[in-house]
Amino acid sequence: MENFKIDVDSDGIALITFDVPGRSMNTITASVVRDLYEIANKIKTDAAIKGAVFASGKESGFCAGADLGEMNERGAAAGGKEPKTEDEKLKAQFERGFGLNKVYRELETCGKPVAVAIEGLALGGGLELCLATHYRVAADNPKIKLGLPESKVGLLPGAGGTQRLPRLIGVQNAAMMILQGQDKSPQEAKGLGFVNELAPAGQTIAAAKAWVKANPKAVAPWDVKGYKVKDGPYTPGGAMMSVGGNAMVSKQTNLNYPAQRNILSCIYEGVQVPIDAALRIESRYFLKTAATPQARGMIRSLFVSMQALGKGGNRPEGFAPYNVKKVAVLGAGLMGAGIAYVQAKAGIETILLDVSQESAEKGKAYSKRIVDKDISRGKTTKEKGDELLARITPSTDYSLISGADLVVEAVFENPALKAEVTKKAEAYLAATAVFGSNTSTLPITGLAEASVRPKNFIGIHFFSPVERMGLVELIRGKQTTDETVAKAIDYVLKIRKTPIIVNDHRGFYTSRCFGTYPQEGIEMLMEGIAPAIIENVGRQCGMPMGPLEVSDSVGLDTALKIGKTNAELNQQDYKKDPRAALLSWIVEDKGRVGRKGGKGYYEYGEDGKPTRIWPELSQKIEVKVKECPPELKAELTKRYLFRQCIEVARCFEEGVITDPRDADVGSILAWGFAPYSGGCVSYIDLFWGTAKFVEEADRLAERYGERFRPNKLLRDMAAKGESFYERFGGKQKAAA
Ligand code: NAI
Repeated sequence: MENFKIDVDSDGIALITFDVPGRSMNTITASVVRDLYEIANKIKTDAAIKGAVFASGKESGFCAGADLGEMNERGAAAGGKEPKTEDEKLKAQFERGFGLNKVYRELETCGKPVAVAIEGLALGGGLELCLATHYRVAADNPKIKLGLPESKVGLLPGAGGTQRLPRLIGVQNAAMMILQGQDKSPQEAKGLGFVNELAPAGQTIAAAKAWVKANPKAVAPWDVKGYKVKDGPYTPGGAMMSVGGNAMVSKQTNLNYPAQRNILSCIYEGVQVPIDAALRIESRYFLKTAATPQARGMIRSLFVSMQALGKGGNRPEGFAPYNVKKVAVLGAGLMGAGIAYVQAKAGIETILLDVSQESAEKGKAYSKRIVDKDISRGKTTKEKGDELLARITPSTDYSLISGADLVVEAVFENPALKAEVTKKAEAYLAATAVFGSNTSTLPITGLAEASVRPKNFIGIHFFSPVERMGLVELIRGKQTTDETVAKAIDYVLKIRKTPIIVNDHRGFYTSRCFGTYPQEGIEMLMEGIAPAIIENVGRQCGMPMGPLEVSDSVGLDTALKIGKTNAELNQQDYKKDPRAALLSWIVEDKGRVGRKGGKGYYEYGEDGKPTRIWPELSQKIEVKVKECPPELKAELTKRYLFRQCIEVARCFEEGVITDPRDADVGSILAWGFAPYSGGCVSYIDLFWGTAKFVEEADRLAERYGERFRPNKLLRDMAAKGESFYERFGGKQKAAA
């Protein structure tokens, strides 16, 4: 056996130590499943074994669950071609070795007592193994996480979790835990009833063995004759759960996440029947869920790719690690202040420069506010907070830049000013250090002209609020070297954010693609679709806000400015364009600049939250479509999502973005593109396939305009039946 070690003691109790070779954490692979069958059989048939205790041989914990990387790869097996029919898909899933549900049941019914000693985290399939034993002893350490997080990647617990947990802790508690993917501490788990005993750290094995010895005839409660689930659907509490749970899931997910519905169905159907039938029901729902494009896309982007990018998966090879210890931030405004905070939190000495000492101090005060809040909520200690703040030096003195490994420039969006501060800063900067600009719109190659070493110049584009947004878009200028990219990635990883790499273009990758969403909203407005429909469908198709609310947040004056610049570039009178004319009326005549001014497409309450659509909008726009039957909703959904995806395809064709993982992860983290899809690229690849996507985009183009017309790249891929991950996947091809 590869992954477990068995030691039988003098009492006949087998200690089964889970220790996957060559890994820092135990995960469940096909090979682990095979071993478990052998173990179940040995416990059952070996007369010398009286009972068994599972434990982990790893410091890192008991088990983190199924190996999603392996699952993702198996999904792409068979030459990267997908099983076509529903039946083929289910069969393929089944053959992938996920007989986990069955083997756990074999352990549970082996006829001898089995317990588990939990000294560290047990998640997903790892916790399900624990639930399938007869007795769970956990170390008395509140930091240990016990949970079923499958729903976070579009899956459901498929190894008994949806059946054993409700039987142990009640339907309502279990449904909440599983739907939300929450984890619990051992103390909470004991309170709820899915941990039986707490023992001091290091003593769980002894406690588990003692229990096994004292309970030679143990069986699971649901295997005792006459067992019935206490709060099934036909009890008052259970009935409330069935009805209320459905309503809650529908409201929160807009039915975009099949796993959520399937979890509820699994529990509802499963708790009404004996456990063996219940587990079969769960397996069916699991296989159905795992075969959805949602699960495939979410596992790939939100887990596998995020993890890869978080470990520098897109870092150019061959450069020594760059240990960033000191960074100067130019400009202590909204962005500079946030950047200073995340750096100081990551232990980086930070020089925060602005035009006056007062402005620089104001920037540092931003960090103080966050630290104070964290202290008051018990998230950090006063000592740690003070250390963090001591790392930030607010100043006006550029000579303090000496010795910095990197500069992040975040002054006003003005090319002349940016050129000036670049020169000023470089006078003190070591020749090997990197200069990064946080510009949101200005081409990097142009800004690099002010630099004496454009090879070390790069765009480091943060998102607001910096401390909450997990993505950083790195933009290569024409002269930026691979070494500079590698150094910038090391910096981004050090401040615990996810880097994506793009090439220089107006709006880079994120702003350019994201911009098409509010633009499509305006198109709908011009067509006379009621604003409420435009906004609701936007949210229902998985975007974080409606397109009009997004425009208000970005600033209508900014949108107008971009419209004017584009018109100038095309030598057009912007007022001749009805969309620009509408914007100009709202901004210039009515003085409504969006959320920051307290009025835009929406009216805002004192708390800054939108209260209702500005009624006067109807003076300019005649509302012709006031109802939204399902066909219209489906059509508007397609318009929103296709529009963004087609822009992403254009970015690939123009070489603005080159790695599908960057494109997918970037679309979700930067602008919240429908996370259930796995991102823009996965939406094309997994929900449509390029051929069908092109066909549908052509139809949209005929009906609504050339903005939907597929580009040459898409047509070429459609003709070859190629996916983005196949064509651009490189190293990740296998995971397509
Ligand atoms: P801001 O207006 O809040 O801050 C700019 C700061 O730069 C001010 O504190 C100003 O006093 C300071 N400054 C001006 N001249 C300076 C000089 N010579 N030396 C040092 N400091 C100087 O602007 P914000 O929003 O922080 O934006 C900064 C940059 O980040 C801009 O390029 C912007 O396009 C970009 N950006 C902004 C995002 C946002 O959501 N606000 C998102 C991503 C990028």
